[in-house]
Amino acid sequence: MSAQPDKIHDRNISQIKGASANKTPDSISIKPRHVHFDVRDELATLWHGGDVFKTAFFNALSLQFPRGERQFIDSVRQYRDRVTDPKLQENIRGFIGQEGLHSKEHQSYNDALSQRGYDIEGMDKRFSAHMDYVYSKRKHLRLAGTCAAEHYTAVLAHGLLNNPDWLEGASPRMQALWRWHAIEEIEHKSVAFDVYESEIGIYKLRLIVFFVVTYNFFKFTFLNTCSMLKTEGKLWSPGTWLKGLNYLWGKPGVIRKCLPQLLTYFRRDFHPWQLDERQTLQRWSQQLENSGYGN
Ligand SMILES: [Fe+2]
Ligand SMILES: [Fe+2]
Repeated sequence: MSAQPDKIHDRNISQIKGASANKTPDSISIKPRHVHFDVRDELATLWHGGDVFKTAFFNALSLQFPRGERQFIDSVRQYRDRVTDPKLQENIRGFIGQEGLHSKEHQSYNDALSQRGYDIEGMDKRFSAHMDYVYSKRKHLRLAGTCAAEHYTAVLAHGLLNNPDWLEGASPRMQALWRWHAIEEIEHKSVAFDVYESEIGIYKLRLIVFFVVTYNFFKFTFLNTCSMLKTEGKLWSPGTWLKGLNYLWGKPGVIRKCLPQLLTYFRRDFHPWQLDERQTLQRWSQQLENSGYGN
C-alpha cells in the first residue's frame, strides 16, 4: 500500500469552498456504513496483543462513546432547523446516522467488556453524572463542546489510520472496528464545526470550551484506564505504567503524535478540512471493504 501524505491547506477554507456554510469537500459522502463487528470473544481477552495498558486505554475510549456521541447528535440537532444550506443539512443527516451507529456499536463493545470483570456499571455511572452536567448547559455551549470533542476524535482518527503500529498486535477484526470508526470520524469531522461557525461563530467561546473538554477527556480516559488496570491487578505495576507512558509519549507516541494537530484548533481561521484527508479516506475505505470484517 503506497501511502500518500495528506496535504495541509495554508489558505482559509472559505477561499476554497466559497461562502456556503458547508465546508466538507463535495467528493466526501457522509453515509453510515451499516456494519457490525462481533468482537465479544476478543473483548474477553487482553485483545491488544496481550498488552494490559494498550487494551485498557482503548477500552477507556470506548466507554465514553455511547453517551458522548449521543450528546454530539443532540447538540447538532438543536440547530438543525436554522441551517439553510442544503448540503450542510444533508451532511447533518449523515453525521447523525454515523454517530448513532457508533454509539450503538460501542454500547455492544462496552457490554461485552463486563466479561472480564471490569466495573462497567461504576464507570458508566461516573461518566453519566458528567454527561448529565453537560446536558444541563445551554445549547451553544453544548455545540461548542461537540466541536472540541469532534476535533479530538478526528485527530485520533488521523493518527490511527496513518500509524498502523498503534494497533499492531490486535486481531484483524478489532483493527477493522477501530478503523471503521476512524474513517467515519474523518468523513464527518467538520459537520458540527460548520454548524457552529454558521450559527454561533464565537472564537473565544470555542477555545474556552476546548480547555474544558480537554480536561474531561483526559480525566475520564485516565480514570477508566486505572479502573481496568485495577481489575487486572496492574494498577500499581511500574512496568505497566512505564510501557504505557512509552506507548503514549515515546514510541509510537500516540499523544505525542497527536499534539501538533490538536493545537491547530487554536488558530482563529482553523477549519478541520485544512488537513485534506481525502486520500487517506479513499485508501482505508477500500481496505475496510476488502477486509470483509464488519457485517
Ligand atoms: Fe463516532
Ligand atoms: Fe464524530
